[in-house]
Amino acid sequence: MSGYQGPMRVLSGIQPSGGMHLGNYLGAIRKFVDLQNEYDCHFCVVDMHAITVWQDPVKLRAQTFHIAASYLAAGVDPKGAAIFHQSAVRAHAELAWIFNCVARLGWLDRMTQFKDKVGKDKERASVGLYTYPVLQAADILVYKATHVPVGEDQKQHLELSRDIAAKFNHDFKAEDFFPLPEPLIKGPGARIMSLRDGTVKMSKSDPSQNACVFLSDDKDTIARKIKKAKTDAEPLPDKVEGLADRPEVANLVGIYAALSGKSDTEVLSSFGGQGFGAFKPALADLVVEKIAPIGDELRRLEADPGFLQQVLTDGAERAAATADPIVKQVKEIVGFVA
Ligand code: AMP
Ligand code: TRP
Repeated sequence: MSGYQGPMRVLSGIQPSGGMHLGNYLGAIRKFVDLQNEYDCHFCVVDMHAITVWQDPVKLRAQTFHIAASYLAAGVDPKGAAIFHQSAVRAHAELAWIFNCVARLGWLDRMTQFKDKVGKDKERASVGLYTYPVLQAADILVYKATHVPVGEDQKQHLELSRDIAAKFNHDFKAEDFFPLPEPLIKGPGARIMSLRDGTVKMSKSDPSQNACVFLSDDKDTIARKIKKAKTDAEPLPDKVEGLADRPEVANLVGIYAALSGKSDTEVLSSFGGQGFGAFKPALADLVVEKIAPIGDELRRLEADPGFLQQVLTDGAERAAATADPIVKQVKEIVGFVA
């Protein structure tokens, strides 16, 4: 058991590698908004993670602003939470190197996300992609963050962060120096699936534009994507058990539940037995009601890059003020000369 006594702190990050979608919103950003009043929060745009796979430099810059604007549009208050881009706080890279020397090859060899991303072409993957979860551990622990709101897909990376923290504390006899960070995953929306295939997660990199509802989609586009979502010919089941083996239907019911604050059971008690001709328009209306206003605010913010730059610069300054003294202590613990 960790006896860590430091303050409760939240950190999370999103890669600027594409447009923000409903999965990012329900799995991550919406939680950020809920946590900001309770915790000291740090929300990062992880541009150094994004370049583990090729990014066009012009797009990378625009997408970094896009993610920052999405945090704001969804309701994160930059006066409370520090919103910043990872590359602007050099402590992340410094700690990542030290953690590269703490983490073991065997641990990284088990990372399923790396295996999924490289497929059979491991030889051609960047070294950065392999050590990606080590940098993620540094993002978290450079602030001694205790809580990390993320979607279900990040569970294994969070376990690795805990392993790195524990091994550092143990190897350097620095008991409870780093907390063992807790993932905050639970809740509806932790795993939103593609609208075209209920067996793969909704992802920025999906080749089909219709797989994702993006926060930037206008009302008509959102409604069209929901109405085109893959389903089957049967009516909705009356009970949750009836969703087994119907991944696309389970996903749409899950989205309705997550956005309406109801359980799957409650959604099915309203729509069970009805066809998709009734359910899809109701779901489209709900998604439009919840997401379109965020899109409007996102567009307004993206039209003001000067303001976004200011938010990022202020956020980075505040983040560095927390991280720098922690890295200084780490360097002393490791034995680097001051
Ligand atoms: P990424 O887009 O991979 O940088 O992910 C940013 C955040 O969104 C992480 O916390 C992910 O776990 C979360 N996330 C990404 N895709 C989904 C999804 N389909 N469902 C739920 N959460 C997701
Ligand atoms: N790996 C995360 C993702 O793809 C992004 C990320 C990078 C992150 N650093 C982090 C998430 C630190 C939480 C905390 O979704």
